[in-house]
Amino acid sequence: MSDPIQQAKECTTSGSNIRMTRDRVSAESKLLINNGRTVDVNQLVPIKYKWAWHFYLDGCANHWMPTEVSMQRDIEQWKNPKTFTDDERHIIKRNLGFFSTAETLVGNNIVLSIYKLVDNPECRQYLLRQAFEEAIHVHAFQYIIESLSMDEGELFNMYRENKEIYEKDEFSMSCTDGILDESVDLKTVEGKQKFINNLVGFYVVTEGIFFYSGFVTMLSFGRQNRMPGTCEQIQYILRDESIHMNFGIQLINGIIDENQDVWTKEFQDYLITRIKKAVELEVNYAKECLPRGVLGLNVPLLREYVQYIADRRLEKLHLPKQYFSENPFPWMSEVIDLKKEKNFFETRVTEYQTGGALEW
Ligand SMILES: [Fe+2]
Ligand SMILES: [Fe+2]
Repeated sequence: MSDPIQQAKECTTSGSNIRMTRDRVSAESKLLINNGRTVDVNQLVPIKYKWAWHFYLDGCANHWMPTEVSMQRDIEQWKNPKTFTDDERHIIKRNLGFFSTAETLVGNNIVLSIYKLVDNPECRQYLLRQAFEEAIHVHAFQYIIESLSMDEGELFNMYRENKEIYEKDEFSMSCTDGILDESVDLKTVEGKQKFINNLVGFYVVTEGIFFYSGFVTMLSFGRQNRMPGTCEQIQYILRDESIHMNFGIQLINGIIDENQDVWTKEFQDYLITRIKKAVELEVNYAKECLPRGVLGLNVPLLREYVQYIADRRLEKLHLPKQYFSENPFPWMSEVIDLKKEKNFFETRVTEYQTGGALEW
């Protein structure tokens, strides 16, 4: 058994761990995990995993800040008792309550779990970017809730008071068992499987499934020109999240390629069971959010959608589809695929590029 503290030290930049040598790092020697056992962990270049570097560049090119988005119309609409029915107000508050803390859970898992165990410099470069984006997402929900003068205590505590949100967050947090406390040993098959389960729990389930009925329901308001500032921010978050999920899936598949002993039939079945459980929790959440249909949405449609996206995630992990449902919201694909020339709901140009990414 390895000493986990020593293992963590090998992965960090403690001065005493830098070895004097004229041996240069070759890209081929790099690994996604257990990299520090073979090569220096502080050299981004030579880059082996070009996909990770490109995800980093894409994330930077999409940079945005919540406070750039006007909340004026949202504030007017939210204050007007006639703009929303009680059911509509309920669903908006549930989604804001869920996201306001779920984004923090994801950020914490990156910094406290994933960053320690993925010691490849290209991936860490992206993880640093992603961690900042999660901070921006937390900021976005804080900004929306504050702008609308909502009860902050009610919204930020919802994950401990509402059963359906609590169960989703509990599912995510159960994937940190044995990972957060650094007791996991990535030299063993069991340890590697535990870590892959963590990555699936966050990148595929939390960011790839749990977030999506929230995106659909909130963006449905945007399609009716309601809550435009909130929906513009959610659109940017969705754009970020689809990169997070794609990075995560590439990372998971890459780790499996490099450690094929982990990919047993039992482990594949286990992951399928977990994803099916997540779909069930998400449908329960939809039922609670939508006791009656609103905005052309109802529980059967959301169930179909959640099953459809779960199948897509399973396929990307090279696991068999389970549901064979159709996509009841084809417009969601347009929002995701839109190349950001314009806000989906407005005419304002919202492609955000920083100076460094512009062509002169
Ligand atoms: Fe996020
Ligand atoms: Fe994310």
